[in-house]
Amino acid sequence: MSEGSEETVMEETAMIEVKRGDELGEGYRRGIAEVFVEGFGDDLRYFAEDPAELAAAIDHMLVLERFHVALIDGRPAALASLTEGGQEAVDHDARTLRRHLGLVKGTIANRVFRTHFQGNSVEPEPGRVEIGFVASARRFRGQGAAKAVLNHLLALPEYDEYTLEDIKDTNEPALRLYERVGFHEYKRRRANHSRWSGFEAYVSMKLTQS
Ligand SMILES: CC(C)(COP(=O)(O)OP(=O)(O)OC[C@H]1O[C@@H](n2cnc3c(N)ncnc32)[C@H](O)[C@@H]1OP(=O)(O)O)[C@@H](O)C(=O)NCCC(=O)NCCS
Repeated sequence: MSEGSEETVMEETAMIEVKRGDELGEGYRRGIAEVFVEGFGDDLRYFAEDPAELAAAIDHMLVLERFHVALIDGRPAALASLTEGGQEAVDHDARTLRRHLGLVKGTIANRVFRTHFQGNSVEPEPGRVEIGFVASARRFRGQGAAKAVLNHLLALPEYDEYTLEDIKDTNEPALRLYERVGFHEYKRRRANHSRWSGFEAYVSMKLTQS
């Protein structure tokens, strides 16, 4: 794989290239947010049922330089964040959330996003990094876009220890994908309310390069 933050992979049917969000620029912010919403919108449906409305509410919070995006035919198809210790991939603004979602839902979103989307768990150490927010757009699933983002991140020369935290134990596509690129489980913690949430545990995975 080439060094640097850009690479092109020829797939059977589509050309996939991976670029960092800030290289793509502000013109891609909404498109990147739409992929984020396709990945995590089900969990966020309480805040806005309409995916376009949700993307408009949350696009400001994506720290573009922390997101790496696979493009298929030039369109954002998959993404993942990469954060070193102390860095955040998401930085929301409470007032913007309230403007889009209204006073009550915006205030709740502010709290929920702070607890669930922030708080990097990686100890700051050279070479150590966390991957998060792995998602692909529905129409591009199964085409290797998410895998291309992960392989791109794993080829970055400055890192050798990668973690993925708190994957639901029922998320077969994600677990399979992470195993395929070389991650293995290193931690598992029981989920609260597993009876109604539909899953038993959160799995954390790690990949260390020699
Ligand atoms: C998980 C997710 C990112 C996979 O994206 P994708 O673009 O379909 O993945 P890819 O096309 O790159 O697939 C690569 C590998 O993933 C696995 N995979 C993908 N979809 C799968 C599915 N439905 N069932 C089982 N394995 C699957 C396969 O092992 C595949 O490897 P292969 O091509 O060697 O067979 C996507 O399903 C998604 O966005 N889910 C919602 C958000 C989410 O749950 N993110 C993970 C949070 S931890």
